[in-house]
Amino acid sequence: MTTLKEYLDSAGCEPMLSDLIILIAAQAAPIREAFIDNQSYAGTENTSGERQAALDVWSDEHLTKVIEESGLVKELASEEKSDVVTFPGAKGNYAVVMDPLDGSSLIQVNLCVGTIIGIYDNGKALSRGDELRAAMYMLYGPMTVLTISVGKGVYTFAMDKSGEYRMLEGPVKMPEGKIYGSGGLNKDWTATHREFIESIEAEGGKLRYSGSFVADFHQILKYGGIYCYPATIDNEIGKLRLVFEANPIGFLAKQAGGAISDGKNNLLEISPEKSNHKTPIYVGSEGLIKRLESICGR
Ligand code: AHG
Ligand code: MN
Ligand code: MN
Repeated sequence: MTTLKEYLDSAGCEPMLSDLIILIAAQAAPIREAFIDNQSYAGTENTSGERQAALDVWSDEHLTKVIEESGLVKELASEEKSDVVTFPGAKGNYAVVMDPLDGSSLIQVNLCVGTIIGIYDNGKALSRGDELRAAMYMLYGPMTVLTISVGKGVYTFAMDKSGEYRMLEGPVKMPEGKIYGSGGLNKDWTATHREFIESIEAEGGKLRYSGSFVADFHQILKYGGIYCYPATIDNEIGKLRLVFEANPIGFLAKQAGGAISDGKNNLLEISPEKSNHKTPIYVGSEGLIKRLESICGR
């Protein structure tokens, strides 16, 4: 079976990018090991005002250290940090954006969570999603799975017991499908969001919503459908973040033939205003995103 390194070489990745991807992907092993000692809440809040789990903090500090020590990265933006961090001595010109642990409310119930990563080669962490050089996530489920795109389709790998990633599937094509899930309390949905969800339900849509964006997206990548965290009547910017969540996942969706939108705009074309820029998110099969945009555009 093809290893991650063999795949990156065959995809024509420059050696520094390949080294950076392999280094970050390898951190899935220590992060997974840290679950058992980091089950509680940390007693602190992140820049979005959300309670931090101990594992959010641990993963952020661990990845930050590894990324800084690589000497390859000039800027780092993390969901757990208020500002972009710069590493002026770096020899490489990469910028990394990360959600060190996505789905943190599920840590204590042992459901699937993951780490989301985006890599730019322009040295600027606050760049548009369509400028990403690579995006990936590591999923801590029954297997440790890496889903990656270096701009040449989407490939999945599983970590074996020696720590080597071996290819599972690729290029992955997201089908049109009927899986859907939506965040935000039903009572607070807008009329357009409700109309869109009802249109999916009317044709036999199947509800799947776990509380982990990355895990819910992984299912949609395979089976097709849509993940939504919409604007609501009491919160028009939604909950999720453009830089660390929407853009890397949107890049992967696009590479698999899907799309991402806030209802009106392709999120990959939006310039972030700040590190924790929030946005409504709809990501999934292309046909459903087209339908959404036609409902929202009326
Ligand atoms: P994070 O754990 O990185 O803060 O992200 C949580 C996100 C996302 O993973 C998930 O889909 C969503 O928040 C769940 O929010 P609700 O509990 O409001 O549904
Ligand atoms: Mn998240
Ligand atoms: Mn997170």
